[in-house]
Amino acid sequence: MILTNNDYRNYDDNKDTTLKVENLGKVYVSSMGSVVSLRNVSFSVNKGEFVSVVGPSGSGKSTLLNMIGALDRPTSGKVFLDGIDIFSLNDSQIATVRNNTLGFIFQSYNLINRTTILKNVEFPGITGGMSDGDRKRRALKILKFLGILDKAKYKPTNLSGGQQQRVAIARAVYERSKSDSC
Ligand SMILES: Nc1ncnc2c1ncn2[C@@H]1O[C@H](COP(=O)(O)OP(=O)(O)O)[C@@H](O)[C@H]1O
Ligand SMILES: [Mg+2]
Repeated sequence: MILTNNDYRNYDDNKDTTLKVENLGKVYVSSMGSVVSLRNVSFSVNKGEFVSVVGPSGSGKSTLLNMIGALDRPTSGKVFLDGIDIFSLNDSQIATVRNNTLGFIFQSYNLINRTTILKNVEFPGITGGMSDGDRKRRALKILKFLGILDKAKYKPTNLSGGQQQRVAIARAVYERSKSDSC
């Protein structure tokens, strides 16, 4: 696996660091035996930096992203998000960090098909405890920005693939901050 930013910096030396990965390791154990998916991966990413993770199939990209996204726990090592050692937290605390600080665009979108586009985009605000009005206003604003405001009341299955992808992006970049800054 190649990290296009593999310049490992010391978090304490750089206050612009938003993500720091330290000696990360992941071993999957199953009835088929053990697979070492990540071994001693260390790097850091600054605020505003755009990073790609590139490597052949099976090299551990998804495993790494699952750890950085706090979706799975590593076997060894640490991940710091804005200075928080996320795996020192319990599952409920990790869920709160994930809700407040991370956005995901899944390969298969993972939209909730039984509800509307608007509710799909609002979803991080619902689980984050935002007020109804604030939540809706922010969702409509981003749907407008992405050119799919007219689809707000539709369900995901009524949209084209590209439109569904934009909904997934809208949900990922949805402003979760509880302070009203719009
Ligand atoms: N849940 C799992 N159980 C066992 N082995 C796994 C699991 N997930 C991934 N692996 C193995 O870990 C390695 C890295 O997989 P993955 O992170 O999905 O690679 P990539 O995303 O780069 O294609 C592969 O050898 C894969 O078979
Ligand atoms: Mg993958």
